Amino acid sequence: MHVTLRQLYVFEAVARHLSYTRAAEELHLSQPAVSMQISQLEGNVGLALFEQLGKKIFLTEAGRELYHYSQQISRELKEAGAVLEEFKGSKRGTLAIAVASTATYFSLHLLGRFHQKFPKVGISLTVTNREGLLKCLEENTVDMVIMGRPPESLDVVAEPFMENPLVVIAPPEHSLVGQRVPLTILQQETFILRERGSGTRIAMERFFARLGATISSSMEISSNEAIKQAVQAGLGLGIVSQHTLEKELALQRLVILEVDSFPIMRHWYIVHRKNKRFTALHQAFKALAIEGITELTETIAFAKSAY
Ligand code: PGA
Repeated sequence: MHVTLRQLYVFEAVARHLSYTRAAEELHLSQPAVSMQISQLEGNVGLALFEQLGKKIFLTEAGRELYHYSQQISRELKEAGAVLEEFKGSKRGTLAIAVASTATYFSLHLLGRFHQKFPKVGISLTVTNREGLLKCLEENTVDMVIMGRPPESLDVVAEPFMENPLVVIAPPEHSLVGQRVPLTILQQETFILRERGSGTRIAMERFFARLGATISSSMEISSNEAIKQAVQAGLGLGIVSQHTLEKELALQRLVILEVDSFPIMRHWYIVHRKNKRFTALHQAFKALAIEGITELTETIAFAKSAY
């Protein structure tokens, strides 16, 4: 069946008014133009849609059926138009984002704010380490990522939006708590390290390599949460982003040691592929992250817990 939307549009007006003249007025067309559209439509469907009895026109049975469907089509089109308008106004769509496991803590606060502003938007969040984030960017599986140092090997746009201090943590009863610790003393301690592929781990290794220092480790763990628990349990010291410590510092379960040359100051970046097609929605999240973070850091504890 070859029917155009224009034909259906004219058909619907005639069916509604049961008058070619009034349909023509409504559509701002001439009456012959309306008649022509209807006869073309009847030709296309191969059935009469109207019948003229005396001065009045009526829908045939086939006409009534088509009227039912054409009204449905109009409603669907209207709805589609409204949905697309919502896309333009960034009220709808999805946000696929990947964040470094270390950045989860504040990223969830950011996503919370985003959700309040755009409640109809679906959010897909991937939490992984640096290596995983590089893969997400490479394979173009997310709209953007929040990560430490941006990759050099990919064509990306990267905007720093917050400092990321790496600190040395110890249980409250540790002998080094409350004193200024030289690196030579720190080197005598045992550490619990993040896994290979972690940005925190890479930054820490670079830092010690630059100073010509070495550290020994008791174990590797691929989760900040588990590292913090292992430190509390006395398995060694840890080096983590201060952004992971909100709860433990507030509850005094862990202490940040005052070590020479610390913190290792890094930054968080919002990163996406250079030619990534950004919708208004993606833009809105990026702006919210960049502009909202200052305000956010004032409301969550980690910013206040200075050394
Ligand atoms: P990660 O954090 O240690 O959880 O991989 C990423 C980064 O700090 O670059």
